[in-house]
Amino acid sequence: MELSVNLGARSYPIVLGRLGQLGVRLARERAPGRCVLVSNEVVAPLYAQTALASLEGAGFEPTLVQIPDGEANKTLATWQGLVARLLELGVDRQTTLVSLGGGVTGDIVGFAASSTLRGLSFVQVPTTLLAMVDASVGGKTGVNTPQGKNLVGAFYQPILVLAAMDTLATLSPEEFRCGLGEVLKHAVLEGPDFFEWLACNAQAVLAQEPGVLEQAIARCCAYKAEIVAQDEREGGIRALLNCGHTLGHALERELGFGSLRHGEAVAIGIIGEAAICVARGHAPTAWLEALRTLTMALGLPIQAPGHLRVSAIVQSTRHDKKRAHGILTAALPAGPGRVTLSAVTPAELSVAAQAILPPEAECPS
Ligand code: NAD
Ligand code: GLY
Repeated sequence: MELSVNLGARSYPIVLGRLGQLGVRLARERAPGRCVLVSNEVVAPLYAQTALASLEGAGFEPTLVQIPDGEANKTLATWQGLVARLLELGVDRQTTLVSLGGGVTGDIVGFAASSTLRGLSFVQVPTTLLAMVDASVGGKTGVNTPQGKNLVGAFYQPILVLAAMDTLATLSPEEFRCGLGEVLKHAVLEGPDFFEWLACNAQAVLAQEPGVLEQAIARCCAYKAEIVAQDEREGGIRALLNCGHTLGHALERELGFGSLRHGEAVAIGIIGEAAICVARGHAPTAWLEALRTLTMALGLPIQAPGHLRVSAIVQSTRHDKKRAHGILTAALPAGPGRVTLSAVTPAELSVAAQAILPPEAECPS
């Protein structure tokens, strides 16, 4: 199956396929030449050989570079090490970077592509569900800093996204469920049709039934591609895609990057942000219950770890990129297809934090 992100001369295809198609598919976008395959220490042993063979088979001359794995390594130091390695290899502006891995690898490689020699072409080959439905599409690249998530980076589009669906076979069930956090987000954003479809098909998606899973991935990619085509640099409508992320990023930062998986943080964040809508009288409590029910059906948590404090979560949102002139704007979900951007007060963020902590942790201090 093939979709596309329409950005004029920078448009690119999203292919839902198999890793072995990489070389042939890339050759349709770029004349075969030098490329660097960047993967991490977990994914490379599993899939680098297949990717290299596919690239070589299509006439490319690939070199493999490995970077460290995990959110805790999504740092300026990893980016710097990668750029240094690329320069040592003598890459030039005709060299294509190919990212093989999850969202962490894709975000780092994309940022390295945007900054090395002021811009190299790059390809996203996502190998996690989360990266297939969200991170690989749309050109957000970057790294975390001690101050917060993704605070350094660039908007920089790939020339091709190949979702290597056959690689999902080795993804752990926990990581697979994380991807469902972003699927849930897209269902909330798109509207009742997708939300109800997901509720009806939660078991089949969890069981990775091929047709159903491909449909879920395609729906997410199509929705995201449409939003990115309208607002590439998040001047407006794209900010809706941050639904669940205001609170989610605060949780990730508060717990230490890598302690709570990104997709889990987003799922919990959506619930907290929906609680603000309920508190405002913009949504019935039944909506919060429907969200909690679907989140649990997808095997995702509905609460943050109980040792967190409301005040710490609220404080952590101060580092959010979306804060401007002291005002924090969040994408608040009042129902499926009813997500709007709205300024949120610290008192409302307390309400959101309370909704995602176990009752005994609901401490006002
Ligand atoms: P991840 O990249 O850390 O992958 C999760 C784990 O699974 C890692 O250990 C990874 O090595 C391993 N793995 C990957 N593919 C595998 C496979 N096929 N088989 C076995 N193991 C495999 O995490 P993620 O959930 O893919 O991505 C999360 C990151 O994505 C976060 O940093 C988040 O900020 C970012 N993100 C970016 C965007 C964007 O628009 N750029 C959107 C959403 C999320
Ligand atoms: N994941 C949010 C975005 O790409 O805009």
